[in-house]
Amino acid sequence: MKKLHVVLTLFGAMLLAAACNKKSDFNYYYYEPADYALISQYLNLPDKPDNYLSELPKHLTSLGLAPRPVQQDKAILGRVLFYDTHLSKDGKVSCASCHKQELAFSDDTPVSRGVFDRAGDRNSIALGSVLSFAAYYGTDLFGPSGIPFFWDNRANTASEQNLSSMTNPKEMDMSHADITNAVQAQPYYEPLFRMAYGDGQVTPARVSEAIGEFVNAIGSYRSKFDQEAEKAIGYNVYSNIELSNFSGFSQAENRGKKLYLDNCASCHSTTQGRPPKMKANNGLDASYPDAGVGGITNQAADMGMFKVPLLRNIALTAPYMHDGRFATLEQVIDHYSSGIQFHPNLSSELRVGNTPLKLNFTAQDKSDLVAFLNTLTDEQLLTEKRYANPFK
Ligand code: HEC
Ligand code: HEC
Repeated sequence: MKKLHVVLTLFGAMLLAAACNKKSDFNYYYYEPADYALISQYLNLPDKPDNYLSELPKHLTSLGLAPRPVQQDKAILGRVLFYDTHLSKDGKVSCASCHKQELAFSDDTPVSRGVFDRAGDRNSIALGSVLSFAAYYGTDLFGPSGIPFFWDNRANTASEQNLSSMTNPKEMDMSHADITNAVQAQPYYEPLFRMAYGDGQVTPARVSEAIGEFVNAIGSYRSKFDQEAEKAIGYNVYSNIELSNFSGFSQAENRGKKLYLDNCASCHSTTQGRPPKMKANNGLDASYPDAGVGGITNQAADMGMFKVPLLRNIALTAPYMHDGRFATLEQVIDHYSSGIQFHPNLSSELRVGNTPLKLNFTAQDKSDLVAFLNTLTDEQLLTEKRYANPFK
């Protein structure tokens, strides 16, 4: 009896300690009060930092996919920079102008408009089309197997990518000195840089690193497809996605899944985890005005080759393809059904000898495929506060 009492008292003490911990958690402030008052004149940032870690579902972690650890303080700074129009020559354009959260961080025009309404060359890539850049993008962490950024794979890391967006004359058109000056001129950055870097010094390298941390922290992994795939997981993820109908899917969605697996997944991924190919030619044209990867490498074998995008949130990211030529998913599917053109680099999956394949989908097939593609939308991503515009 006495022993039990001691144990109970110990247990009580532990509970109390846990409760106290909670309480001190509650009183924990990230910013100095004076800093927070200053920041809060401009920004809606919580006084407890947002958590930027992504918890991937089991069907993805079991494939060895894990986001690299995010440096939270830098991601918080990066979020502000991502939405700040001061980072552009005309003061009107931010990263978010062409990467809108409600559209899974894509844009709804064939080519986006940069500073002074200048038209860009290509369709904006949805940052929410991938599971997480941090899980397999960037040669800094993944070496040659790291997927590079842009339609033509020309940037190797998130920092390199965003620095080139900031300096691109058709996007934000800033010199390195412009970037430093524009950031230094905003009073809210001094405390944010101090939190992220220990001192308030602004450099283009720090700006691009912080934006890179934010971009790497974006994760899309909570679609209906993910929920069903996680339920289906057994000892082999692929066979469970491939062989079984998902119990939470409608008949149309399951039929669409089968069509997708038979015709599309070899390029666009079975699990929507990591794209199986870095580049491919999908027969949009017999000759390409935009050479894609070939424009960078000058290799004949790369002409007309483009990044193979993952299809997460695809229902929200119209128009489609590197030049935004297709306004709807129906048009995309018509392309694969009967519109593929012969090109010397046309992928083997889409040709028989020198004849482009016609997948000849029926009207039913087409609507089933669209139904399946609609299951790839991650509603949470579209409103999540930690990714949202922090400006008042
Ligand atoms: C004027 C519109 C515009 C602005 C501003 C802009 N982007 Fe982009 N972004 C694009 C376009 C268009 C592409 C595709 C360009 C290409 O591949 O050549 C792209 C591609 C990307 C990619 C590559 C994704 C992938 O899967 O390869 C990332 C990441 C990205 N942008 C992040 C940013 C960040 C961060 C900023 C701010 C520093 C930014 N963008 C500013 C239009 C824009
Ligand atoms: C040989 C590989 C390959 C196959 C097979 C393939 N695709 Fe693609 N897909 C690509 C490439 C490469 C692109 C980008 C092409 C470009 O923009 O020039 C693309 C682009 C797309 C896009 C536009 C993505 C965006 O963000 O704009 C959609 C949607 C799409 N494919 C759906 C499908 C569907 C549905 C199927 C099966 C019916 C399929 N794909 C089969 C390689 C493939």
